Amino acid sequence: MKATDLLKKQHKEVKALFKKIENTEGARERRRLMNEISIALEGHTAIEEEMFYPAVRGLETQKAEEMVLEAFEEHHVVKLVLAELPQVDPADERFEAKMTVLSELVEHHADEEEKEMFKVAQKLGKEELEALGEQMEERFEAFRGKAGRQAA
Ligand SMILES: [Fe+2]
Ligand SMILES: [Fe+2]
Repeated sequence: MKATDLLKKQHKEVKALFKKIENTEGARERRRLMNEISIALEGHTAIEEEMFYPAVRGLETQKAEEMVLEAFEEHHVVKLVLAELPQVDPADERFEAKMTVLSELVEHHADEEEKEMFKVAQKLGKEELEALGEQMEERFEAFRGKAGRQAA
């Protein structure tokens, strides 16, 4: 799968998780979904930062450079919120508001990637995007497997 298609698929999966948590009342299930969201976002941002963004940056256009730098800053904000989650009480009245803010942050960021960065990334060519996608998927699955075992 092309790297850009893999990342789009993961964006969809995370959006679905946010939808699910929004419609979940029970504290236990909320906690479980919060863990799932954390793992998905940590793995996703890692393969973007370590593999995808450097490839886009390698295109060496000013636009690519600017988009990558902005994306790193947005990831930084997402990670600040993720770091708070273990202390968040799923039964607290602030829970839903916190999830909404995180979800909007992620959605805005993912939309920008899809509408701008992934378009520019097509300049890498189909073959390179396919090869990169395969490596990224492998790394993501390895990360998720490890994180899943730690959470269990
Ligand atoms: Fe991103
Ligand atoms: Fe992304």
